[in-house]
Amino acid sequence: MTPRRGVLITGASRGIGAALAKALAAEGVDLTLVARDAGSLEQVAAACRERGAEVGILCCDTRDRDRLRGLLLERDAACPIDLVVANAGVALETGDDAAVAEASYGEVEVNLLGSLNTILPLVPAMRGRGRGQLAVVSSLAAFAPLPDSPGYSASKAALAVYGLALRDRLAPSGIRVNVICPGYIDTDMGSRYRGWRPFLMSADKAAARIVRGLERNRAVIAFPQPLALVAQLSTLVPEPVRRLGLSGFRFTIDRH
Ligand SMILES: NC(=O)c1ccc[n+]([C@@H]2O[C@H](COP(=O)([O-])OP(=O)(O)OC[C@H]3O[C@@H](n4cnc5c(N)ncnc54)[C@H](OP(=O)(O)O)[C@@H]3O)[C@@H](O)[C@H]2O)c1
Repeated sequence: MTPRRGVLITGASRGIGAALAKALAAEGVDLTLVARDAGSLEQVAAACRERGAEVGILCCDTRDRDRLRGLLLERDAACPIDLVVANAGVALETGDDAAVAEASYGEVEVNLLGSLNTILPLVPAMRGRGRGQLAVVSSLAAFAPLPDSPGYSASKAALAVYGLALRDRLAPSGIRVNVICPGYIDTDMGSRYRGWRPFLMSADKAAARIVRGLERNRAVIAFPQPLALVAQLSTLVPEPVRRLGLSGFRFTIDRH
């Protein structure tokens, strides 16, 4: 008999997380969907059940470290989790210095700390089993210091570096760690973005790229490729060239 596969995704109530849940839903898969909006999670769960998966829902704010840890350990004991995708994230309203400062704290809390709250509690159990996969959803913004959203760039850069460090740390225990860096994706988050969005991609297409990258155990799953190349190069060129290049990517983010 083929063993069952446990998959947990945060931020699964819409956007990339919901698309990923549907892409991974299949017979033999035990899915756990995490977010705050129970109604939206139920709708995604129903679509995943239609594809043959067993689905459980955890309504939780990923910033609530103790509560999330308890729920994760309880779920893992009932139904061992093989793959975790820490996808929940926010890009908060931009504007003057005060708005940017406020957004920065919120982005670090959800994008960085919420992601650590999601993956770290499961490391001991995965070590014990000698296998597992932990993926964090960063962004191409991790490579580009965006003056309109320093908190978003910084939270995603820190998450990416944390993920790569953890990848090397956990490799000897059979645990794989992957850093996912999407470009512009057509989701709710994207719809509040006012600015140029080259190579805009649907959430379904992004989910397919992520699934392929996870199967191949890529350290960094960055897409679409032309934009990934530009973002990565921006860290290597002299400052005036970087500023000029990034001047085409100025933006604002509307209030939620
Ligand atoms: N869209 C893009 O262009 C783009 C590009 C690069 C990277 N990303 C990253 O991809 C990930 C998904 O983005 P998306 O575009 O799909 O965004 P989205 O449509 O706004 O969805 C965000 C998801 O995160 C959940 N979430 C937000 N804060 C949460 C919290 N504190 N606790 C639990 N869940 C929370 C939301 O659910 P609830 O509101 O129900 O809690 C929702 O399911 C994010 O990490 C984002 O930074 C997006």
